[in-house]
Amino acid sequence: MESSLQNRIYDALREVIDPDLRQNIVDAGMVKGLAWNEKDRKVSLTVELTTPACPLKGYFAAQISQVIKQSLGSEWEAHTTFSAQSGRITRETLSQIRHLLLVGSGKGGVGKSTVAVNLAIALAKLGARVGILDADIYGPSVPMLLGLEHAKPAVREKEGRPYLVPIQKYGLEIMSLGFLVPHGQATPWRGPMASNTLRQLLTETDWGELDYLVVDMPPGTGDIQITLAQQFRPQGAIIVTTPQKLAQADAEKALTMFRMPLVQVPVVGIVENMSYFWTPELPERKFYIFGESGGRMLADKYEVPFLGEIPLLEKIVHQSDAGVPACLEDGTPISQSFMEIAGETVRALARLELVSAP
Ligand SMILES: Nc1ncnc2c1ncn2[C@@H]1O[C@H](COP(=O)(O)OP(=O)(O)OP(=O)(O)O)[C@@H](O)[C@H]1O
Ligand SMILES: [Mg+2]
Repeated sequence: MESSLQNRIYDALREVIDPDLRQNIVDAGMVKGLAWNEKDRKVSLTVELTTPACPLKGYFAAQISQVIKQSLGSEWEAHTTFSAQSGRITRETLSQIRHLLLVGSGKGGVGKSTVAVNLAIALAKLGARVGILDADIYGPSVPMLLGLEHAKPAVREKEGRPYLVPIQKYGLEIMSLGFLVPHGQATPWRGPMASNTLRQLLTETDWGELDYLVVDMPPGTGDIQITLAQQFRPQGAIIVTTPQKLAQADAEKALTMFRMPLVQVPVVGIVENMSYFWTPELPERKFYIFGESGGRMLADKYEVPFLGEIPLLEKIVHQSDAGVPACLEDGTPISQSFMEIAGETVRALARLELVSAP
């Protein structure tokens, strides 16, 4: 029976796991053009990869051959070919956004949101058109950081479809799920729904032309991060860490995730937050309460740029709570730190583009 043979082949192929995705190749949508010939005992298929240089080709071919023989009989042969990045991973047309820039980390509470909003402001101060998307749909914090707890985006029609209009403040175009759900309400969504909501928030906002859309990511290395990376092919990701060992271990996980063959988001560099405690009362002293230079060491280890460090300052907490990001004030040491980080980011992105240019 045709169909039961088909099922057996698919079931067999489901035993082949992509080690990076940790998902089987069938459910990951990597199997294309499956055909078989019962008389000749042959199965042929194409495995779709993100890059023609994928180091796993030999592994996949051997695994596929093995599972087919195991399931259908040792006389069966599998012929596997490979194709690179056609339809499966689509970069949605966010054609008006020149750089989609993720700000992530493995660990919660290291200051992603603080870095994301201040970096966005610093990029705008450098003269760029900048948006910020709060992708932390479980616990959006951008509205509070920008003093927009009660903002409600308007909706406008474009080519017959409704789009959300970003809130404008401090020279930024801003969108967050926090604007759409009642203030303080929890959003207990499951993975696929969360990913879909985020995708909608990104694609159904009328961003206009932007040089940078900075995305404040939720903590972790799960579904949301991988989906966003695969569907939208961001130009780069910045990883925020603190000098603490625990935070670095999680930052390494984030780095590894962004480098997985089917994710492949270029790492722009590492920002070290809460590098040392500094207080105006003792301006000559830096207190390295979480350890020293952890972020720089991580950057060296993975050969990515170190974009800069930000001290732990009481003022940052107050300014965050007041919805007035520290970088708004000109000429302070803290805004200088963010301006430097923004400059390094722009340069690192430009270098990445040079490398990836055809
Ligand atoms: N350099 C700093 N100095 C002092 N406080 C800071 C600094 N950076 C961040 N904070 C404070 O630490 C807390 C966590 O920061 P933030 O919300 O930016 O982290 P996060 O990584 O986005 O957290 P989450 O994982 O919950 O999204 C906030 O109260 C923030 O004001
Ligand atoms: Mg956050």
